[in-house]
Amino acid sequence: MTRRSELVSEGLQEYLVTHSVAPDPVLAELAVETASRFPDAAGMQIGPEQGAFMTMLTQLAGATGALEIGTFTGYSAICVARGLADGGRLTCCDVSEEWTSVARKYWQRAGLADRIDLKLRPALETLQAMPATESFDIAFIDADKTGYVSYWDEVVPRMRPGGVILVDNTLQDGRVIEPASQDANVQAIRAFNDHVIADERVVVVLLPIGDGLTMARKK
Ligand SMILES: C[S@@+](CC[C@H](N)C(=O)[O-])C[C@H]1O[C@@H](n2cnc3c(N)ncnc32)[C@H](O)[C@@H]1O
Repeated sequence: MTRRSELVSEGLQEYLVTHSVAPDPVLAELAVETASRFPDAAGMQIGPEQGAFMTMLTQLAGATGALEIGTFTGYSAICVARGLADGGRLTCCDVSEEWTSVARKYWQRAGLADRIDLKLRPALETLQAMPATESFDIAFIDADKTGYVSYWDEVVPRMRPGGVILVDNTLQDGRVIEPASQDANVQAIRAFNDHVIADERVVVVLLPIGDGLTMARKK
């Protein structure tokens, strides 16, 4: 199964996936198992081209400290953890024992389990319990959309200068610009996007990758 963004046609999606580095067997099998065990939730998983982008970006950043908010069955975590420099560590935040049990299985298979630390409690609690020091080179926010502003406000102070924050689903299948779309997630993302562009601590670019990927570099 390939998750396709509404922003890209089916044919173009296939083209860009086949012209990006292919998922290895671990990622491919994780996508298949997620789709078969959790068919109603599988669409939450990032697509293969976004995963390849995140691995490359983590490598380019020379990241050793990484943070993920919203882990699900672990696909994006594998993509980030694989890009870490030697000795790097990824802290993952989620609330689902069931979904993250699949993640743990695939982290083992990928040989990454020893560099991933999973915190199973509401992400805001995990963040607030962390020291407010500049610890992370890269962060990925991909949990409940109504929590994004709160996560952002906890994450930015914990990023190192030059660190990169990625935020998923910031175009909401294009509904951010449709006035008739007033559901809670769309409204939350509009408010989040406005919050981020007004934040002078970061430089921001919103990319049409997947369902919209915001990329922000801390000054
Ligand atoms: C969109 S999915 C993450 C997808 C994942 N990044 C991937 O690519 O496979 C969102 C995840 O956020 C988690 N989540 C929802 N509310 C949360 C909260 N308050 N704290 C931590 N995690 C939460 C859900 O359990 C779910 O696994």
